[in-house]
Amino acid sequence: MPRPCFIANWKMNKTLSSARDYLDILQKRLSKPALQNGEVILAPPYTGLVSLHEGIGRLSLEVQMAAQNLYFEAEGAYTGEVSATMIRETGCQYVIVGHSERRVHFGEKDEEIARKVAAAQIAGLMPILCVGENEQQRQEGKTLSVIKHQVKKGFYLGLSHGHASQNGPPDLSECIIAYEPVWAIGTGKTPTPHEAEQVHCEIVAYLKSEGISPQEMPRLLYGGSVNERNIAAFMKERHIDGVLAGGASLSADTFVKMIELGLDAKGVLCTY
Ligand code: PGA
Repeated sequence: MPRPCFIANWKMNKTLSSARDYLDILQKRLSKPALQNGEVILAPPYTGLVSLHEGIGRLSLEVQMAAQNLYFEAEGAYTGEVSATMIRETGCQYVIVGHSERRVHFGEKDEEIARKVAAAQIAGLMPILCVGENEQQRQEGKTLSVIKHQVKKGFYLGLSHGHASQNGPPDLSECIIAYEPVWAIGTGKTPTPHEAEQVHCEIVAYLKSEGISPQEMPRLLYGGSVNERNIAAFMKERHIDGVLAGGASLSADTFVKMIELGLDAKGVLCTY
């Protein structure tokens, strides 16, 4: 079983001092076994990465960091952008790519997202590719085709190497896919755990059909209005390896509770 993964996406929230308080709570409340059995990842805004990394080191916390975005070019005249190498330098291991808020508010398209996934891997960052259907697509019964399309485009699948990124398709075992229905993000609405599981199964089936072996499979997370009341039900599903939480993760106490409940639901030994 892949190591259960819990990501706190702070979005455009928290100052440096509130981030420090957050870390203090994690250090006091998260037990060693919880941190060993699960992987905890914090995704602050860019400006918090360096100090968060220092704080994690100072407290000897086994917590990883993710950036919320990157630009695919290595360097140059791209005012306001941040490259994968710069992010890696801050101590980040992960980067979120193609979050629906970036697709919707900043017009990110599949091609750009695929270039970001590739750039992240070249720099040694593990991409967390977000995919998800919107309300209309769901109502029209297009959920599975939308997800398959986004996974295919995001990883340059279904293409010969000559037409894929210069480096060929990414190493999927070093990637995470987060299924986040757009209509569930920040709304309090969610699919049923069974519906989310079905989408995850379809992603696995699609990747298999593209020749991806079980060892190469990425971890699959669910995201969209996950909280302490519903996390256990999602985590009980076989193909849900973790969660990407937004609003509920802003409270360190709630996030700790969610990690404990999620590990329990997965049956991972966890002594609090
Ligand atoms: P939410 O956000 O938990 O607030 O719905 C999730 C996300 O956008 O990653």
